[in-house]
Amino acid sequence: MNRKKKFDELEKWRHKAQKGGGETRIKKQHEAGKLTARERITLLLDKDSFEEMGAFVRHRSHDFGMDKQLYPGDGVVTGFGTVNGRPVGVFSQDFTVFGGSLSETHAEKICKILDMAMKNGVPVIGLNDSGGARIQEGVVSLGGYAEVFWRNSMASGVIPQISAVMGPCAGGAVYSPAITDFTFMVKGTSFMFVTGPNVVKTVTHEDVTSEELGGALAHNTKSGVAHFMAGDDAECINRIRSLLSYLPSNCEEKPPGSRPSEPDENASAKLDTLIPESPNKPYDMKEAILGVMDAGSFLEVHEHFAENLIVGFARIDGRSIGVVANQPLSLAGCLDNDGSVKGARFVRFCDAFNIPLVVFEDVPGFLPGTDQEWGGIIRNGAKLLYAFCEATVPRVTVITRKAYGGAYDVMNSKHIRADYNIAWPSAEIAVMGVKGAVEIIFRKEIAEAKDKDRRKAELEEQYEEHFANPWRAAERGYVDDVVYPSETRQKLIRALQSVQNKVDHVPRKKHDNMPL
Ligand code: HXC
Repeated sequence: MNRKKKFDELEKWRHKAQKGGGETRIKKQHEAGKLTARERITLLLDKDSFEEMGAFVRHRSHDFGMDKQLYPGDGVVTGFGTVNGRPVGVFSQDFTVFGGSLSETHAEKICKILDMAMKNGVPVIGLNDSGGARIQEGVVSLGGYAEVFWRNSMASGVIPQISAVMGPCAGGAVYSPAITDFTFMVKGTSFMFVTGPNVVKTVTHEDVTSEELGGALAHNTKSGVAHFMAGDDAECINRIRSLLSYLPSNCEEKPPGSRPSEPDENASAKLDTLIPESPNKPYDMKEAILGVMDAGSFLEVHEHFAENLIVGFARIDGRSIGVVANQPLSLAGCLDNDGSVKGARFVRFCDAFNIPLVVFEDVPGFLPGTDQEWGGIIRNGAKLLYAFCEATVPRVTVITRKAYGGAYDVMNSKHIRADYNIAWPSAEIAVMGVKGAVEIIFRKEIAEAKDKDRRKAELEEQYEEHFANPWRAAERGYVDDVVYPSETRQKLIRALQSVQNKVDHVPRKKHDNMPL
C-alpha cells in the first residue's frame, strides 16, 4: 500500500468516526432538541483544545448480527481538553450509536479517561445520553458499568467528577452520576430512574410519565438526585464551565483565584437593615450572601431542593469559598432531613477539595414532627454535624439572628472547631426561643400569678434581655466578635486571609464511619 492510500484510509476512518450513527440519527437527535456528543464537547472545551482518544475503537460483540454493525468510537467520544485553560478529561455518550448504550469497549474507553484523570489530577466531566447496558452484550456490559462505578468511587475526593444527564439514564446506569460530585439535568430531554414507568405501573399500579418520575424537575425538587437544572444542552454545558471555575483540579491543590470585585452595591447597602425588628418575620438570607460576596459570584447548588438550607459556591475578594446558610424564608430556616443531607454532602465536598466554608446562621432549631422524627432527623442531622466536625478547611460563621439549641452546635459552632465566628447585634444565641423557654422554666410561676398574661410578658422580656442576644456567647468567647452587618465582608476577608494556611488533621484511621 502506498503512502497516499494509507493517508486516504486514515481520512476515511476519521470521517466515519465523526459521523457517529449517521446523518439520519443525527437529524433525529437534533429534532429531539439535543446536541450530538461531539457538539457538546465542542461547547464544553476551549476552542480547538480537544484531543480525542479511542476514536477507532469498535465493539467485540458477534451475537444478534452485531458483527455487521460496527461504528468507530462505539457510542462514546472520549479524550482530554481544557476549560478556561485548565486540563480536564471528558466522555460524551453518542446516542446515535446503539442509543449510546454501554458495551464492553464503550466502558473501557470511559475507564481509560478516569484512570488518566486520576494519575494526572484533573477533573472528569461525563456527558451521559444512553439507553443503558448494551442489551446485545448481556453481563459483559454490566461488568463494564461496575468497572466505571469502581473508578468513580476511587476517584471520589481525589478529582472533581461532574455528570450531566442529557438524555435517558435508566437502571443501574444512574449510579455513576450518583457517585460523582455534581449532577446536571436538562429540562424536557433528560430522565433518570432505577425502574421506568412500565415497571412502576406493574408493581405499584401508579400511572406516571418518564418526565414525572425522573425528569429534571423531579430530581431537582423532590429527590435531590440532581444539583442543577438547565433549559437546554448549551445552558447546561455553560454552567458546567462556570462550576469548574470555583474548583481546584484535584485534592492536592487550592481552588483557583479570580480577580476580586466588590459586592453588588444595592445588596451591601441593605445589610444593616436586612434583619426585621420582629424576630418572627422572615427575610431572604440570599440578600445577606449577595451583600458580602464578590458581585455576580454566587453559584447556588441544589437551588430547588431543601430550600431551607442554601448551599453554593461564591468568591470573596477573589477567593473561592463554599457557602452554607439557613434560609428563614423556608420552614423558618429550620434544619430538616433533606436540608441536613444536602448540607452534609456539600460540606464534605468543600472539605475534600480545600474550599473554605462560610456559614450564615439563622436557625430556630430542628423541624419538629413525626414526619421528621420517623424520617430520621436524628440520623440525618448527625450527618451535617459530623461533616462540620471532621472538616479541616478554614471555617467561619456569621450568626445573623437565631442560633438555638442543637442546631447552634451543628451550624459550624466554635465548639466543633470553626476558626472564626462572629455575630450581628440581632443574634439570639440560646437553648431555645423566648416563648418556649418561659413556658417551661416559669410554668409554675405563671400558673400561680394573679395576672397570668402580664407575668408571662414580664418573664419573656426578662428572658429576652438576658439570653436572646449575642452577649452571653461573646462573654465566653463562643463568638469572636459582634459586628455591624456592613462590616461582615471586611471581617471575613481578613479572617480567611489569616487562616488560609491552616493545617489540621483528623486522627489516623482506616476510614471514618460517618452516620450514613
Ligand atoms: C442496545 C439500544 C439500547 C440498549 C436503545 N438502543 N437502548 N441498543 N442496548 N440498551 C438502540 C435502539 O435499538 C435504537 O437503535 C436506538 O438505540 C435508539 O433507540 P430508540 O428506542 O429508537 O430511541 P427512543 O425512542 O428515544 O428511546 C430511548 C430509550 C429506549 C428510552 C433509551 O431505547 C429504551 O427504553 N431502551 C432500553 C433501555 C433499557 O431498558 N436499558 C437497559 C437498562 S438496565 P436503532 O438502530 O433503531 O437506531 C441497565 C442496567 C445497568 O442499564 C446496570 C448497571 C449496574
